[in-house]
Amino acid sequence: MTSLKGKRAVVTGAANGLGKACALAFLAEGASVVVADFDREAGERLAGEAGLPDRFVFVPCDVSDVAQLESAILTCVDRWGGIDILVNNAGIAPKANIETIDEALFDRVHAINLRAAVFGTQIAARHMAKEGKGAIINMSSVNAELNIPDLLAYNVSKGGLNQLTRNSAIALARKGIRVNGIGPGTILTKLTRDAVWTDEAARRSILSRTPMGRAGEPEEIAAIALFLASDASSYVTGQTIYADGGRMGLNYTVAAD
Ligand SMILES: NC(=O)c1ccc[n+]([C@@H]2O[C@H](COP(=O)([O-])OP(=O)(O)OC[C@H]3O[C@@H](n4cnc5c(N)ncnc54)[C@H](O)[C@@H]3O)[C@@H](O)[C@H]2O)c1
Repeated sequence: MTSLKGKRAVVTGAANGLGKACALAFLAEGASVVVADFDREAGERLAGEAGLPDRFVFVPCDVSDVAQLESAILTCVDRWGGIDILVNNAGIAPKANIETIDEALFDRVHAINLRAAVFGTQIAARHMAKEGKGAIINMSSVNAELNIPDLLAYNVSKGGLNQLTRNSAIALARKGIRVNGIGPGTILTKLTRDAVWTDEAARRSILSRTPMGRAGEPEEIAAIALFLASDASSYVTGQTIYADGGRMGLNYTVAAD
């Protein structure tokens, strides 16, 4: 039921990390995939790794520029005749709290994490509506609900993303387009592994907030994306599924080891 044979997908920010895992899972299930990312080097490397030039296209793209985002989506439509799946995954999380944040940082985070998802959804939905079907997935975070003060703009953008999921799910329901979100907890992408997991104090602090006692793997997020992109979730819309090892329910700490 999670086969994506014949489906056409665009995944933003998929040259690395969680987006990459989603793109590879979609490819493995038979989909054709456009990866839209501004990391040209990693995108071209992934195209080589994927080794499926008929079903994988890398488009260099800064999603904060809606014209570039539209052109990435049109690459999918022009090449394969339409779009069935959009994953709004590109995201950044620079540090600043309510006392230190400036307008430029706030606007940049929102342009990538939220505005791109709004207009990506709008553009993709126009094409999906012509065929009366489609699945849109927003990569949210536990930080849509919980807070880290130094990630003010990130937290606010992810909270907004959850509202976008619910709002657009209702607006697009009668057009056959489902919109859902994924809210990861701490997932070991290369970045997290190198930057956070090597720091013992940070690792213990994260695990003390993770009842399952381990971080997640990118493939565990890709598995949810596959479910939400496929017909296996045909009656699910407007939901954000949290994959966080139990963190959202925890109102204290657990033993780190
Ligand atoms: N890794 C985690 O633990 C975690 C937890 C919760 C949520 N998330 C969310 O998952 C998504 C992916 O995060 P990740 O951990 O894989 O990060 P990552 O940094 O490994 O990957 C993000 C990708 O987005 C791309 N990107 C950034 N800005 C872009 C832009 N303007 N235009 C196009 N591409 C752009 C980067 O080049 C990179 O390839 C993000 O939305 C993030 O908020 C991640």
